[in-house]
Amino acid sequence: MHSFGYRANALLTFAVTILAVICALASLSDNLNVPSPTAQVQVLNINWFQKQPNGNDEVSLTLNISANLQSMFTWNTKQVFVFLAAEYETPQNFLNQISLWDGIIPSKEHAKFWIHTTNKYRFTDQGSNLLGKEFNLTLHWHVMPKTGKMFADKVVMTGYRLPEEYR
Ligand SMILES: *[C@@H]1O[C@H](CO)[C@@H](O)[C@H](O)[C@H]1NC(C)=O
Ligand SMILES: *[C@@H]1O[C@H](CO)[C@@H](O)[C@H](O)[C@H]1NC(C)=O
Repeated sequence: MHSFGYRANALLTFAVTILAVICALASLSDNLNVPSPTAQVQVLNINWFQKQPNGNDEVSLTLNISANLQSMFTWNTKQVFVFLAAEYETPQNFLNQISLWDGIIPSKEHAKFWIHTTNKYRFTDQGSNLLGKEFNLTLHWHVMPKTGKMFADKVVMTGYRLPEEYR
């Protein structure tokens, strides 16, 4: 004869086990979803490009950022954090990465978008390295699931170049 306490405990253990299994399955089935996001960025305008009094180059861009990240959303996706970074090489650093824009995508309905924006964060380099500089624009994302591990990936868009002269 089992006491009531024993049964209640067994039931609780069973419930917790079931919950753990469901969570594991949730993140597993989530891992089986292979997202195929797309992104495009057009530099619509160089608003200004100057050497600042402190000697650092700075540029202001108008961008059209468009992306379709809908395939990342499963029932286990809480939200997706995205940021657009300019990436380029200088003699001092193999990789310079400057965040230009970021956003949080709360749901699948919002995951297909385009946004016409100037850079939200400053595009500045410590030195005069930006004249005529070739750079990549990389859209990075971090998928925050309801349960399971966060994961991150990116798409690299190549072949951008800054003007040879300040303006
Ligand atoms: C931005 O890009 C999207 C997709 O390429 C396009 O539909 C939209 O018209 C563009 N907007 C501007 C302001 O260029
Ligand atoms: C841009 O990305 C390509 C492909 O990942 C890479 O080979 C290239 O070195 C990058 N260019 C710059 C300027 O970082």
